[in-house]
Amino acid sequence: MFFTVNEFEQPCRCSSVEKYLQPFQLSPETLQEVSARLRKDLLRGLGKHSHHKAPVKMLPTFVRATPDGTEKGDFLALDLGGTNFRVLHVRVEEEAQKVQICAIPQEMMLGTGEQLFDHIATCLGDFLESHNLKGQTLPLGFTFSFPCEQLEIDKSILIRWTKGFNCSGVEGKDVVQLLKEAIHRRGDYHIGSVAMVNDTVGTMMSCGYKDQSCEIGMIIGTGTNACYMEEIKNVKRIEGKDGRMCINTEWGGFGDDGCLDDILTEFDVEVDKTSINPGVHIFEKMISGMYLGEIVRLVLVKMTKDKLLFKGQISEALGTPGRFETKFISEIEEPDSGLENAKKILTELGLDWDLVDASVVRLVCDTISSRSAYLCAAALATLVNRIRNNRKLGHLKTTVGVDGTVYRKHPTKLQKAVRLLAPQCDITFLVSEDGSGTGAAMVTAVAQRLAHQSRLLEESDGEDNEEEEEEEEEGQ
Ligand code: BGC
Repeated sequence: MFFTVNEFEQPCRCSSVEKYLQPFQLSPETLQEVSARLRKDLLRGLGKHSHHKAPVKMLPTFVRATPDGTEKGDFLALDLGGTNFRVLHVRVEEEAQKVQICAIPQEMMLGTGEQLFDHIATCLGDFLESHNLKGQTLPLGFTFSFPCEQLEIDKSILIRWTKGFNCSGVEGKDVVQLLKEAIHRRGDYHIGSVAMVNDTVGTMMSCGYKDQSCEIGMIIGTGTNACYMEEIKNVKRIEGKDGRMCINTEWGGFGDDGCLDDILTEFDVEVDKTSINPGVHIFEKMISGMYLGEIVRLVLVKMTKDKLLFKGQISEALGTPGRFETKFISEIEEPDSGLENAKKILTELGLDWDLVDASVVRLVCDTISSRSAYLCAAALATLVNRIRNNRKLGHLKTTVGVDGTVYRKHPTKLQKAVRLLAPQCDITFLVSEDGSGTGAAMVTAVAQRLAHQSRLLEESDGEDNEEEEEEEEEGQ
């Protein structure tokens, strides 16, 4: 087999266990096939007439350039869409930043849009107050990590909520406007120009400041997604032929038209059915942190019901949706302390376990996190192969800016698989340090640098013209 799933000692019940895990084990041919299907979906998303119905949305971001490392400036940044909501004050050239983390209570994630944006405006106000910034009018980078139809850099319509958010009155609206209205309702501070970006774009931009060959941003954390620099001539829904634009793929929606149904397990179907957005973001539900723990839990419940684990006894905790947290998976998979961690977690979940149970649980966790890494690798391979084909290169050397706990915990599985699936691409992975927040500031910084450079160009053109005019006058 191409990928071996069982890195641990084979427990004696393994042959019976195998039948539950086998549907999660994807062969290299299947992964190539997944990559080929995504390749077609990227095209549908880019097409002028097909993009409306495309499951992979391929959203233009209006970001046309990556950093060149000379950017400067003082910015505010908001970051909504991961585990926490964060407010930041970023000095780009110094890499200095102050960060405040604010929780978004569960009720607020399901409340009204007005409540959510009022809360954001309050957190920003408190931050400005505590850092003595209230009198200044700083440009603001807003990282909003949900699928948005971006009309301009400061106008972005929410297509739909994902990752457990479902605030009323926001879908179909311009989120920048909703933020500005909330700030206006308070009336005690002002903000400058706003640049709105997806977290993948923020990640690409902040990694791009350090490594100028970074042209892909990828997140695999609570949710999953990637962006990359596409040739504008291929983005049929926008005007223009020259240059490149960053496209937010929203690959979490891959499979929403049923094209992954043949590889979905009964557990994926259950996770989707019981989520707050059934039928939506199928790929995300197979691979991202918000759902992996629940997939493991469902597998363990089934094995227990079939008397393969825990003497057939499901504890109250194991029977409760959401109680097997995704972070348990990486703790249980730790090479040295994993078995000990498994024992502790199983005890905390009120389970009557033996050593074989603990090993089987490790095997289940490994299988499900491996599938996540391999599917993510297949999707990333599609992007790097596309960039290589776009540029008609025999060999592509590129950097992927990456963030998210699922990646941080399992980097090697993903890297190994993507190298096998995209052998003509030499990929460097750069983990972003707080990229999704600082990257939004970077978008503004790049825009300011480009404006400054074009002003300088105009001025020097002006001087050249004057010189030419003088020369002409002298010649006369
Ligand atoms: C959202 C994306 C985001 C990703 C990672 C997904 O649920 O749709 O916009 O980039 O999560 O945070």
